[in-house]
Amino acid sequence: MLKVYTNYFVFIFLFSSSLFSCKEKNERYNVKSPDGNINVTFQVHDGIPYYNLEFKNQIIIKDSKLGFEFDSMPAFKDHFRVESAKTETKDETWTQPWGEVKNIRNNYNSLSVILKEKSALKRTLIIDFKVFNDGIGFRYEIPEQPELKQFKIMDELTEFNFVQDFNAWWIPAYGTEMDYEYLFNNNKLSELKENVHTPLTMTFGDSLYLSIHEAALVDYAAMTLKPLGLGKLKCDLVPWSTGEKVRAKTPLKTPWRTIQIAGKAGDLITSYLILNLNEPNKLGDVSWIKPGKYDGIWWGMHIKNNTWEMGPKHGATTENVLKMIDFAAENNISAVLVEGWNQGWENDWSLGKFNFSKPYADYDIEKISKYANEKHIGIIAHNETGANVENYEQQMEDAYAFCRKYGIHRLKTGYVNKQPKEFHQSQFMVNHYNKVMEMTAKSQIMLDVHEPVKGTGLRRTYPNMMTREGARGTEYEAWSSGNPPSHTTILPFTRCLAGPLDYTPGIFNLLFDKKSNFRIQTTLAKQLALYVVIYSPLQMVPDLPENYKGNPAFKFIQDVPTDWEETKVLNASIGDFVTIARKDRNSDDWYLGSITDENTREFSLNLDFLDAGKNYTAEIYADGQDASMELKPLSIDIHNKQVNSKTIFKIKLAAGGGQAIRFHPAK
Ligand code: NOJ
Ligand code: CA
Repeated sequence: MLKVYTNYFVFIFLFSSSLFSCKEKNERYNVKSPDGNINVTFQVHDGIPYYNLEFKNQIIIKDSKLGFEFDSMPAFKDHFRVESAKTETKDETWTQPWGEVKNIRNNYNSLSVILKEKSALKRTLIIDFKVFNDGIGFRYEIPEQPELKQFKIMDELTEFNFVQDFNAWWIPAYGTEMDYEYLFNNNKLSELKENVHTPLTMTFGDSLYLSIHEAALVDYAAMTLKPLGLGKLKCDLVPWSTGEKVRAKTPLKTPWRTIQIAGKAGDLITSYLILNLNEPNKLGDVSWIKPGKYDGIWWGMHIKNNTWEMGPKHGATTENVLKMIDFAAENNISAVLVEGWNQGWENDWSLGKFNFSKPYADYDIEKISKYANEKHIGIIAHNETGANVENYEQQMEDAYAFCRKYGIHRLKTGYVNKQPKEFHQSQFMVNHYNKVMEMTAKSQIMLDVHEPVKGTGLRRTYPNMMTREGARGTEYEAWSSGNPPSHTTILPFTRCLAGPLDYTPGIFNLLFDKKSNFRIQTTLAKQLALYVVIYSPLQMVPDLPENYKGNPAFKFIQDVPTDWEETKVLNASIGDFVTIARKDRNSDDWYLGSITDENTREFSLNLDFLDAGKNYTAEIYADGQDASMELKPLSIDIHNKQVNSKTIFKIKLAAGGGQAIRFHPAK
């Protein structure tokens, strides 16, 4: 029996669709966003499930198939009929314990369709759609049923058949570097020749911006996108080393496939759709979770002043760490990252020789933890695993007991390995990363994951999952050709849509490599601006303390918070420039970061985000008149100006430059 609940936004058509030359009746349903701009149509035609997507009455995605291939039973791709469909509306606002914004509205219309096979097996598949004003999410549910217990998914058949040849900002899914650690490319969809990672952000002219990603990746493989030509993309799950994509059992809920849609590039940044598609906080009281800044024993190793392993240049010595604790305590920094403190670094990292609870002899953990405690500074332990998960899983209990013993509430993990047995984005690794997240939560440990699985919004459910890498970050400035200035003008619209990024901005000694012409390709003011532009609840203060001491620009880093009440994008052009203003959660201050690529820019900014009727002192960190990343990267002009919400504020960015501002209510 066809059971349908309809209301004002759902229409059901039982007719021969014009979209298909059809021999039999179509069963067609649609659901619109609360503002009516986005329309998703679901349809079963000749037994095959499809969806279409329209934005402002323009068709965007057409006749895209849904389904699965399995290992030892017939596929889920045809022979379906709709058994029932139901719709729902939700409008609620929830509060993030920490974040880029405090309150998030979760407002959508949903359509849930139960499909039943007409064939002998009569199996059931459910497809859920949620349509928000800023995009859509859909996922599959395979309920428990007699014919379906344990099985392998060999392929997920989800298609994204775009009717236009969009411009896509992409990185390869299976390149020669580590996972997501690439510079972005910009090509037409029809020019793509290899699988790409998500978020995949696409543009069409200057009034349509889309990004495909996923939400709530749990016990499943990450989705890459395979180009099929002519603007068509297909979900291609990252496989196990044995070839299958997912080892599944019912009841199964896949991650949500997400498509964020915006009329302006900046609206992608303030879309919280991925968080809305995740489950609420499962950890209960999270008052122990604290955003903040951290310095550390880190950059010294990357620029080869120090070593991770014990020896004459060892970085993680008691003496060095005590100094870093002092530096943190003096400069409004809440924690110290210590890399190279534990035994095993002298071996090939992937061999599984790391011990996660045995410090090197020159690292006195008793003394260090006591001193850190007295100074109210946290220690960030570091567990580099070399992606040898077997070794790590054997020691996780002990590693977290060690943290508990020494009052350590923050942990950075690492999975350096370009050719691990199981891909970083495979179901095997997804399950490992999620296990670490759950186990550390039980020990009240916050996480910063390097070489991670991509973020899919699970930080909502597990707020101890603070930040992660999964991008070509500042470390590449130390030992590669570096990151060209456009890189950080692309990240906010691509990688950062997946969640917080531990990019580690804040290098002051931009010309650190005195032996070559190499330089970090930004100005000093841009390094500051990145603290606002690239959101992370844990932000590193990475340079050597001596490079900050006495430099007046350091005041911005001392001041800048990492936890925000509001976020506004003031202007944006992907790959060119972006300006973001954020309001501090714990004061009335606003902060602004504006960055450009290799071109100089001038903007007039509207400051109407400031409280009307209040006067503010703008503490401005601008590129100096003669600044440029090539010639004078360190030239900075620091000055104050009185402003209010009516001020039209002019800013000028040098080539490779930026500007950072703190707006502080005037007394
Ligand atoms: C790569 C990480 O991204 C980096 O932050 C870390 O220092 C090294 N691995 C060593 O674990
Ligand atoms: Ca890395």
